[in-house]
Amino acid sequence: MRTQIVAGNWKMNKTLDETETLLSELSAKLPNTEAQVIVAPTFVNLALAKNSLESSTIQVAAQNMHFAENGAFTGEISAEMLQNIGVDTVILGHSERRSHFGEEDDLLAKKVDTAIKKGMTAIICFGEELGDRKSGNHFSVVERQLKNALFHLEPKAWAQIVLAYEPVWAIGTGETASPEQAQEMHAFIRKTIADAFTPSIANTVPILYGGSVKPANAADIFSKPDVDGGLIGGASLKVDDFVAIIKAI
Ligand code: 13P
Repeated sequence: MRTQIVAGNWKMNKTLDETETLLSELSAKLPNTEAQVIVAPTFVNLALAKNSLESSTIQVAAQNMHFAENGAFTGEISAEMLQNIGVDTVILGHSERRSHFGEEDDLLAKKVDTAIKKGMTAIICFGEELGDRKSGNHFSVVERQLKNALFHLEPKAWAQIVLAYEPVWAIGTGETASPEQAQEMHAFIRKTIADAFTPSIANTVPILYGGSVKPANAADIFSKPDVDGGLIGGASLKVDDFVAIIKAI
């Protein structure tokens, strides 16, 4: 069986104090689950999160990192810096990185390489824009994103990859892909990976859905066979909503 994951991407939200409060509430209310629960606070609060979750099963991820070891990259964070505070999981390629900060697939591929080389787990985000879906190009867009970011990898690197399909039109909009749309795309992603690598790799890699997952729709989305969990934005900032979503898996 594939690992099931519910990850909260907190984006640029929560101060140090608010992070502490949310984590202690989440720890107190965490339901008994076999799913992996991950939170991704902002960089400055990662060390606090690691410390306060020391005896918890909740894991901590970063929202981004640079591909270089170190050097003159003002404002950036390296893999070594993350690992030095115990953070071994990183979200890469989020659509907000792509749209607001101009990150393209070739940059993402370099970041993926660094994460793999350093032994980290990389949660790779991708997904089509509204125009792509309306014009029926969503499958080819997703296929191209996967190919550009990941198809150069050695087969064994896939053990460190988690995929997150996040249709851009569903992020923060309240509009969710239907469970059927999510399943259709996840099955397509698995087939694309099976063709490029092996069915075994395709059947093992967890594929999360992201985009306006809420307590009200989580169970339906998670019930689909190729959906292995969710990458949650807004709803992960409210402890009761995030807990309800974890319970839904
Ligand atoms: P929302 O759940 O707020 O739509 O955000 C999804 C997302 O971008 C997670 O990375």
